[in-house]
Amino acid sequence: MKSRPIGFFDSGVGGISVLKEAIKMLPNEEYIYFGDSKNAPYGTKSKDKVRELSIEAVEFLIKEKVKAIVVACNTATSAAIDELREIYKDIPIIGIEPALKPAVELNKKGSIIIMATPMTLAEKKFSKLVKKYEENSTIVALPCPGLVEFIENGIVSGEQIRSYLFEKLENLMEKGIGAIVLGCTHYPFINEEIKQIIGKEIPIIDGSEGTVKQLKRQLIKNDLLNCKNQIGSVKIYNSSENKELIDISKKLLSI
Ligand code: DGL
Repeated sequence: MKSRPIGFFDSGVGGISVLKEAIKMLPNEEYIYFGDSKNAPYGTKSKDKVRELSIEAVEFLIKEKVKAIVVACNTATSAAIDELREIYKDIPIIGIEPALKPAVELNKKGSIIIMATPMTLAEKKFSKLVKKYEENSTIVALPCPGLVEFIENGIVSGEQIRSYLFEKLENLMEKGIGAIVLGCTHYPFINEEIKQIIGKEIPIIDGSEGTVKQLKRQLIKNDLLNCKNQIGSVKIYNSSENKELIDISKKLLSI
């Protein structure tokens, strides 16, 4: 059981940002990544549809005999994590959520901006999270429909992304930004472009480190940590017929 792979899934290539963190923290594990690019983006679909697609992704990973599953997608986590844990009781399932806590703890002057998909920001899970921290900080939800599509097409820099981000962030910059939370696993790949706009001093935080720490805790708790001493392998699958998605995934894994 311990030598089995850990399964990751996302609506597309975004969850690779979480996988990268896992490889760094748990290099001896075997990994299977499933990107559902055929159905990306999830963030503008109905909750029922995202639940259905999440169940299909988990079924795929279970057939690959994974020992644990990381829902490397904020949108799928907010729409489906409770149901997934209810259906698949025998396997640890780890989700991801916007890393608001570490952003609040930085105690910076200015608002905390949460960039995420419209669904993540509209879900109950998110409003519960905001309630915990809103007393002492100004939290601004910034839905970014259309941003995932750039990254799915392998575009992580350049004029198109820059003008999209500038339009989104211009007014908020005038009011003062304390920190930015990347509440979508696709967005860490455009971190540099965000910095170009807001400046290098404003911290940009994502949830991958917290998620992988939680994965590690779950593996230890369930006695599932791989004890072998060599570097594990990574297998990448994608639901899209477009073979380029595998190349884009590999490229994102290496940057
Ligand atoms: N990467 C995903 C997330 O973390 C979802 C993007 C999408 O498909 O809309 O929310």
